[in-house]
Amino acid sequence: MIIAPSILAADFSKLGEEARAVEAGADWLHVDVMDNHFVPNLTIGLPVVTSLRQATSLPFDCHLMIENPQRWAPGYAEAGAYNVTFHAEASEDPIALAKDLRRAGSLAGLAIDRDTLVEPYLDLLPHFDTLLIMTIKAGFGGQQFMPELLDKVRAARAHAKTGHLDLRIEVDGGISADTIAAAAEAGADAFVAGTAVYSAADPVAACRKLRALAESAVSTGGSSV
Ligand code: DX5
Ligand code: ZN
Repeated sequence: MIIAPSILAADFSKLGEEARAVEAGADWLHVDVMDNHFVPNLTIGLPVVTSLRQATSLPFDCHLMIENPQRWAPGYAEAGAYNVTFHAEASEDPIALAKDLRRAGSLAGLAIDRDTLVEPYLDLLPHFDTLLIMTIKAGFGGQQFMPELLDKVRAARAHAKTGHLDLRIEVDGGISADTIAAAAEAGADAFVAGTAVYSAADPVAACRKLRALAESAVSTGGSSV
């Protein structure tokens, strides 16, 4: 199980400190890059990610909500990101970009936004290490989890079981103590949480609680992972 706090919910005036504040409870740090074109919102880009890379030992899970990822995504791998995820909706040739990312030294991730079906992409999954299923519409933190989107997680997990067992399936959006069990039962094994971690009085304890809930959902009845 991977717990990935999203710095979108952190205090951007002290990102290094905010990253280090979750080191004891997190596996990855989820870094939301938004370009004001693919999504209306605007966050940070490569120079900030490069600087932040020096501030924490956590592996970076860069989620690129940007147009033209073929131009920009490999730079995040070269900057030391562990996983770089781009959106299916923004990419003309996802397989070529996945290869570029792996060549540049990161894992390759494919993201599926709220209104995109996963089925057309299932056969591409062997080229990817991570599949990110949005459980909201990409663009803003703090939105309400949409449980119906977990059908995509179920479909992807069932497909992965036929030959791509090590695929990580990540969920992003509205993940909290109230929703993480359902996502884990559906077959997710990586969980992004912004608000649920950074609005908690103790972000490390919040990470640990989320992990415990996900693990217990799988061991007590979830049959999907
Ligand atoms: C939204 C981002 C998410 C966001 C999640 O487009 O991709 O990573 O930070 O925030 P919460 O956990 O608050 O829904
Ligand atoms: Zn994200």
